[in-house]
Amino acid sequence: MQSQLKPETLAVRGARTQTAYNEHAQALFLSSSFLFDTAEDAQALFLGEKDGYSYSRTANPTVDAFARRMAQLENAENGIATATGMAAVQATFLSFLKAGDHLLASSALFGSNIGLINNLPNFGIEVSYVASHKAEDWQAAIRPNTKMLFVETPSNPTLALFDIHALSKIAHQNNALLAVDNSFLTPAVQQPIALGADLSISSATKGIDGQGRVMGGVICGSNALIEQVFLHTRTAGQSLSPFNAWVLSSGLETLFVRCEKQADNAYQLAQFLQNHPKIQQVNYPFLATHPQYALAQKQQQSGGALIAVYVQGEKQQAWQVVDHLQLFSRTGNLGDVRSMITHPYTTTHARVPDAEKIAANITPNLLRISVGLEHIDDLIADWDRVLEKI
Ligand SMILES: Cc1ncc(COP(=O)(O)O)c(C=O)c1O
Repeated sequence: MQSQLKPETLAVRGARTQTAYNEHAQALFLSSSFLFDTAEDAQALFLGEKDGYSYSRTANPTVDAFARRMAQLENAENGIATATGMAAVQATFLSFLKAGDHLLASSALFGSNIGLINNLPNFGIEVSYVASHKAEDWQAAIRPNTKMLFVETPSNPTLALFDIHALSKIAHQNNALLAVDNSFLTPAVQQPIALGADLSISSATKGIDGQGRVMGGVICGSNALIEQVFLHTRTAGQSLSPFNAWVLSSGLETLFVRCEKQADNAYQLAQFLQNHPKIQQVNYPFLATHPQYALAQKQQQSGGALIAVYVQGEKQQAWQVVDHLQLFSRTGNLGDVRSMITHPYTTTHARVPDAEKIAANITPNLLRISVGLEHIDDLIADWDRVLEKI
């Protein structure tokens, strides 16, 4: 799936499925099943002796085109698309971990990832968390049965970063896989596999769609690893809807220009906020004040569209900001062309125990903002007006 073409070109002209009708845009195959020429043909398809499609839970041409194009952007040999980002994370765990294995995860994670991981012991899989980004702390937490390391980088919602190359070395020295959740940046901004990760996972619901329309997920990796995921998903049924794949494929065509402009807006807004007296702290990877600024410069092509903002005060002040901003939609999604704001303590991380939230710097005065394509002057003016009032 790797190509000499630049990623921007692949995003618009990469893998696609072409029919005999010479359509210019990606065709949408809304068909649950596919016809067999003969009984013998059906047998060959089912045994995998012949390429083709039989049933959309297993594979579908529109879904495949999207997954293959994602793999091209991720610098991976292959990819599998799933119904949601969480389905992609779940399929990754269940494809490679079995009872008795150990998963080592960062504690800086999205609430649903924590919920999913905390459920793995019910299947006999051991889990433990590392509350540090230092390679030596990860090395020290490895157990003889560790089979996978899992991080979000940047993490949701505090934008903590993890050194993908350093963690991949630790994983490989210990015969484990490194899986990276790349949802916050998309492959337009960070390519975990090129940095050494084995698997790159995305919630396509975020920047890949970019317009808040459909759910989706993707797992990319080597042919051998993706084949192992396929053996799981073909029967477990986390398949992406062809309609969603079709929407997401067109999302990819504008991914690079959206990401670039959104990161540009986010950087300017982060600078404004960090100098405002009503703001206690701003975490944005491309601000020189981010504790892992050097790492961000090394492994990311921009700071991304997300900013973590700690307002001066408590929950009350944070909620005032949420309720009074006019150009930031109050919603739980991120990566959209419309700016959005979330109060993680009471929403995305509402079910995480308070002590764990505080330990992970998810405090009541924290806001997560996802910066869109509105004019930066309007976004800054909106914040300026609201901060004046609190
Ligand atoms: C880092 C991260 N991973 C995974 C997911 C899950 O994605 P989805 O909502 O598409 O299931 C999210 C959703 O917010 C996320 O932020």
